[in-house]
Amino acid sequence: MSDKIVLAYSGGLDTSVAVKWLKEKYGYDVIAVTIDVGNEKDFTAVREKALKVGAIKSLVIDAKELFVKYFIWPALQADAVYEGVYPLATALSRPLMVKLLVDTALAEGASAIAHGCTGKGNDQVRFDVGINALAPELKIIAPAREWGMTREETIKYAKKHNIPVPVTVSSPYSIDECLWGRAIECGALEDPWAEPPEEAYGWTKSADKAPAKPQYIEITFKEGIPVAIDGQELDGVALIQQLNETAGKHGVGRIDHIENRLVGIKSREIYEAPAATVLLQAHQALEAMTLAKDQLRFKQKLTIEYSDLIYNGLWFSQHNRDLSAYIQSSQRFVTGTVRLKLFKGQSTVVGRKSPKSLYNLSLATYDKGDQFDQSAAVGFIHLWGLPVKTQAQVQLLGDTQGPLSIIAPKEEEPY
Ligand code: ARG
Repeated sequence: MSDKIVLAYSGGLDTSVAVKWLKEKYGYDVIAVTIDVGNEKDFTAVREKALKVGAIKSLVIDAKELFVKYFIWPALQADAVYEGVYPLATALSRPLMVKLLVDTALAEGASAIAHGCTGKGNDQVRFDVGINALAPELKIIAPAREWGMTREETIKYAKKHNIPVPVTVSSPYSIDECLWGRAIECGALEDPWAEPPEEAYGWTKSADKAPAKPQYIEITFKEGIPVAIDGQELDGVALIQQLNETAGKHGVGRIDHIENRLVGIKSREIYEAPAATVLLQAHQALEAMTLAKDQLRFKQKLTIEYSDLIYNGLWFSQHNRDLSAYIQSSQRFVTGTVRLKLFKGQSTVVGRKSPKSLYNLSLATYDKGDQFDQSAAVGFIHLWGLPVKTQAQVQLLGDTQGPLSIIAPKEEEPY
C-alpha cells in the first residue's frame, strides 16, 4: 500500500499537476484538501477536478467561520497591518490552513503534507513553519519549489497527463483571495512604475466609475468586534462579505505597495481589501474615543510587533499568545458605533459614539457649559516646562549646534 499525502489543493493548474507529480515522483496517494476561506469559487467543481486528475480522495472544508473568529477578528482588534498598509489577508489564512491540513493528515493516516508554494514567497515559510510546529513528524513536500518547471513546462506536463488547462491560465496575474482581501501579483505589476491595469482588479470599482453620490454606513462594535451594519446584526462572515460588496462598489480598499518579503526581496503587491479597510478605520476611530492616550500609544507598538509576527509565519508561538492577551484585554470598552462615508475610492470616518466614550463635551467645549478649569493650566505648565527651562538656562543659550542653530546669527565673511 502506498503512503498517503495530504495536498493543499486550490483547483488551479499547479496543484492539479502536483497530484500527478506526487504520484509519479514519490508514489504517494494524494488526498486533496481544499479550504474555503471565502475565496468564492465553485467548490463542487474543485472537488471533482481533484478526483479527475487522480486524487484518491477530495475534501472541501468550509473554514470561513473559523477564519473570522480566530484570525480576522483578533487581527482587527490589534489593528494589524503589515508595513502600515497590508491588512494581512493571505498571511492570516495560512496558519488556519496549516491547522486543518495537519488535522486531516493525522485523521487520514497520511505521512506527509504538500502545498503549491514556490521557493520565493512568504507562504512556503508560513506553511512549513506551521506544520513543523504542529506535527514535526509529517514530511513536507512543495512540488513547485522542487520541480523547477517553467510555466510552459507545467502546461506541457498537464497536457501530457490529461490535466485540464484552464483558459484563465492566460491571465498574467497570480491571485490569492480570502474574506479579508485579494492579493494580485506578477505580470505588468512587476514594474513598480506602471499603474496597475484596471483588469487586475476584481473586487473594487475604479473611483471614476464609482457611484456619483456618497453612501453612509454605520458599523457597531462590541468589545472590538463588529456586530452590525446600519443597526442590522450580522454574523462575522456575512458582515465582511456585505462590506466587501458595498465598499468595493465605491472603489474603497485598493492598496499598491512595495513590500519587504520575509525571503529578503522587495515585491510589488496590489491588494483589494474593501471590508478590511473600512473595518480597520472604524475600529481605530472607536479606539481613539474609548482608550486612554497611554493605552493607544502602547497598543500602536504592539500592532507593529503583532503584524510582523503574522506576516513572518510565527502564528503558532507563545509570543502570539502573550501579545494577544494584551490586545484582548484592551478591547473591553471598545464598544459603540462609527459612521463612515464611502465616496469615490475613499472611506472617511465622519462620526462616532460610545457608551464608554472618554470624550467629555463639558471638558472639550469652547461654548457655554465649559467645566475645564483654565486657571489650573498655569500651574501645570509651570511644572511641565520646568526641566526645559532649567536646562535651557544652563546649556541652550550659546549652543549653536542644537535646536537654536536655525536662528544663530551667521558669522560675517572675512574679507
Ligand atoms: N504578499 C502577500 C503575503 O505575503 C500576498 C501573497 C499572495 N500569495 C500568493 N500565493 N499569491 O502575504
